[in-house]
Parts: sequence; C-alpha cells; structure tokens
Amino acid sequence: MIAVGDAGDITLASYEAGANLYAARPYVMGEAMARYLARIAKLVDGGTILELGSGPGRDAEYLESFGLSVTRTDGALAFVEMMRAEGFTAEVLDIRTGQFNGTYDAVVANAVLLHLRRDEFEFVARKSRGVVGAEGMFAFTVKKGDGTSWSKAKLGLPRHFTFWQEGQLRQVLATCGWETLSIDTVVGPTADWLHVIARAN
Ligand SMILES: C[S@@+](CC[C@H](N)C(=O)[O-])C[C@H]1O[C@@H](n2cnc3c(N)ncnc32)[C@H](O)[C@@H]1O
Repeated sequence: MIAVGDAGDITLASYEAGANLYAARPYVMGEAMARYLARIAKLVDGGTILELGSGPGRDAEYLESFGLSVTRTDGALAFVEMMRAEGFTAEVLDIRTGQFNGTYDAVVANAVLLHLRRDEFEFVARKSRGVVGAEGMFAFTVKKGDGTSWSKAKLGLPRHFTFWQEGQLRQVLATCGWETLSIDTVVGPTADWLHVIARAN
C-alpha cells in the first residue's frame, strides 16, 4: 500500500477517524506490558510522567494505580476528548511539532514512536530529554525489524510504521542524552516488540 502525503499526518488522521474503533477493540493488558509498566512505576517511584500518545488512556490509569501522576496527551483530538469525557485532564500534543512543557520524572510512550520517521524519533528523544531532570527516565515501545511499512490492520485506515533494531536505538538514544538501561524483546502477533527503558545521561 502506498499512501500519498506525509506519513505521520496520514497516520494521525487515521487515529483521529478511528479513535472510537480503537478504543472499542477488546483489550487485555498482556503480562509483559504489565511487568514493563510496573517496572517503570518502580523506577519513577511515585513521581510524575509525561505520556505521549496516550490513546484512550489505559496505560495512564494503570501507572496511576501505582501512585504516579500522569499527564495525558495525544496528537488526536478524538482521544483527548475521550479521556476528558472520563474526567481526566488531557491535552492535544502532536509530538512531531508540539513543544514539550514542564518538568517530569519520566516520559512514557507506548506504541507511539513507531509511527515516526527516524529523524522525527530523534527529535522527540531530544525534546523528551529536555523535560526530565538529571535522573529522568524515557520509556517507550516500538516494533522490532528493518525498514518501514504501511498497514490498514485494526483501524481499516492507513498507518505508517518504522521498525527498529536494538543497536540502532541504543545509538540514537546515546546521541540524544540517554543511556539505555534495558531493551526487552517481546513476541508480538505480526512483529516482535522492543520495550525500552533509558535514563538521562
Ligand atoms: C497504537 S496507539 C497507542 C495508544 C496508547 N499509547 C496505547 O498503548 O493504548 C498510537 C497512539 O499514538 C498517537 N499518535 C500518532 N501519531 C502521533 C503524533 N504525531 N503525535 C502524538 N500522538 C500521536 C495516536 O493518536 C494513538 O493514540
């Protein structure tokens, strides 16, 4: 499939249009994800998190169950309105173009940065470093592999994916002021996932 236009804009438009469908899909948090989020919670230890691409806000709620305070954001207004309708504060933030404001103990982005081009990923990694202190954390998941692809799975609308190898991630993170603490490979249905935790360097 070849979509015409900016890959990130097309992907975000698909989430905007497909937010209700995304949120309505049956969801059970897998064991690996629960372990990963619990590990982040332990490292952040009751602190503050800026979440990028919160979607319906499931991870935010889970993280808050450990006593953390999560600032919810998403590039799609539809998701932001969904979280607001549930009583949460949430802001529209297109991570490619928007400013990251405030100071947090960690930046978390689950299944979000995989939609960015590699140069956009680097830009976001740098902006994330700018909003955490000397002990700050950066935790995110991407799909493992090479190159890029389009998919209409789940939403029936085009989303663009950039795949990453562990070595590439470590290298880019290091240039953006992050020390990689761990990268766990988690088996996924179509591609494996990389669960990454980095600390300010
Ligand atoms: C696969 S969903 C993951 C949502 C949520 N983190 C979760 O795990 O359920 C990807 C999310 O990234 C958001 N997103 C995509 N491109 C974005 C961008 N440029 N800026 C901010 N959010 C974006 C989408 O709107 C969507 O909520």
